[in-house]
Amino acid sequence: MTQKRQRSLLNRGDEACKILKEHLDKGDIIRVISHNDADGLSAAGMIGKAISTRNGQFHISIVSRLTDNFIKKLSNEKYQVFFFCDMGSANLPALSHLHGNVIIADHHQPIDSTTDTNIIHVNPHLFGFDGSRELSASGAAYLIIRGLEKSLASFALVGAFGDMQYFNEFIGMNRFIMEEGIKNGSVQTHEDLRIASRYDEPLYKALAYTFNPTLPGITANIEGSKEFLEKIGVSYAIRFQDLGAEEKDTLKSELIKINPEIFGEVFTDKRLPLTIRYLSDFAKLLDACGKNKEYGLAIGICLGEEEKSLEKALNLQRKYREGIIKGLEWIKREKPKKMEHIQYIYTEEKALKGVMGTIAGISFSLGLSDPSLPILALSRMDNQVKVSARATPKIIERGVDLGKALRDASSNFGGTGGGHDIAAGAMIPYRELENFLRLVDNIIGSQKKES
Ligand code: C5P
Ligand code: C5P
Ligand code: C5P
Repeated sequence: MTQKRQRSLLNRGDEACKILKEHLDKGDIIRVISHNDADGLSAAGMIGKAISTRNGQFHISIVSRLTDNFIKKLSNEKYQVFFFCDMGSANLPALSHLHGNVIIADHHQPIDSTTDTNIIHVNPHLFGFDGSRELSASGAAYLIIRGLEKSLASFALVGAFGDMQYFNEFIGMNRFIMEEGIKNGSVQTHEDLRIASRYDEPLYKALAYTFNPTLPGITANIEGSKEFLEKIGVSYAIRFQDLGAEEKDTLKSELIKINPEIFGEVFTDKRLPLTIRYLSDFAKLLDACGKNKEYGLAIGICLGEEEKSLEKALNLQRKYREGIIKGLEWIKREKPKKMEHIQYIYTEEKALKGVMGTIAGISFSLGLSDPSLPILALSRMDNQVKVSARATPKIIERGVDLGKALRDASSNFGGTGGGHDIAAGAMIPYRELENFLRLVDNIIGSQKKES
């Protein structure tokens, strides 16, 4: 059964690749539109890289979401083929009006599955796979690109890491891609400490920046991290890679005592420079570029323009991480407000807006929010409120679907929303905020009852 679904999805990817090849053979420029997070950036970078190796041409735009206005702008463009990544599944009717072929590599919940003849829709949900765990948008793009260029599986896994699809193992189509990557040499795996930035930050910072898995007392706690290293007698001011073998062993055994998940399978692409060789590090760097709106920088890194770009991106990442830590300290002070079935945090502060979704997601494992309730992170943007909602696998098991809840609740108040069961977002009018929260609370309550 799974094999049959897998074959159908692979066939759909091949179909899309055939169209892509026909356009490349004709010398058409491939118009790529992708999302501004790690998954979207990795997808766009992968496509650019594949097209470059065939001496083809592409034009990439990175956007935060697909608005009607942007689609209208695209409908005036004369490209023969449009390739949408990490978006598009919710916009099929509008995209059917574009001139030329439309390829969609998305993993968000589609609103309907009927497609016009000019659209090829590659989305795991259409084939019974879960788009929040089993395939990212980079993964969907890879299923198309693998017919052109086999060596880019690592980019698909970078996207999966960026979208937090790795929970101690890759499952579903992510696993298929991982195995294909290992077979053809673009992915390697080994057992190692799962710490962040082993090649570019002093150890105490690297440990404090290790958000996933979390290290209580150390994650997001620079002083706590230093004290821990001093206590176990490991040099804290040098990089992990510069530690001696004995120090590495001590560190490993002490960290395992804090959280056994800190040691396990890790994934690398040995063709990449050291700072992005661990695919989870690559995802974090792209995320930092995305959050800083440095899209060209991110794509450049994917295309292999390394030295200067990497240095610049690492500096952005440092600032971004300081922002995440400040945001977590803020949640600790403010505490999420609880309703019956949800909890929320709200800000009007500019500095916090860029990290609200991220800190909401991390808050569960750091014990800063109630792990039994979905959390909504609300940022006021003039007359509107940007909503980022996050849940845990346990909450989802009880029947909660945040994507559906936010889509239905926001459309009730003239807003827009959607996403995945475990992570979703919306934009709503500020004046409806209280009504919106009440409705989401109700919807989540009834989702739990129905399951
Ligand atoms: O745009 P989109 O699909 O790419 O983003 C998914 C979001 O969901 C990311 O911000 C990712 O970190 C978040 N997520 C999460 N926990 C999960 C799965 C995804 O916070 N288990
Ligand atoms: O949820 P969102 O995509 O905004 O998360 C962005 C980034 O935050 C992830 O790519 C990851 O680097 C970091 N993160 C993490 N552990 C979590 C949640 C987020 O490392 N639990
Ligand atoms: O913005 P944020 O990272 O919280 O988005 C979480 C998920 O919800 C992403 O997958 C994003 O694409 C989706 N989303 C959506 N519609 C919106 C806002 C976010 O589908 N209006």
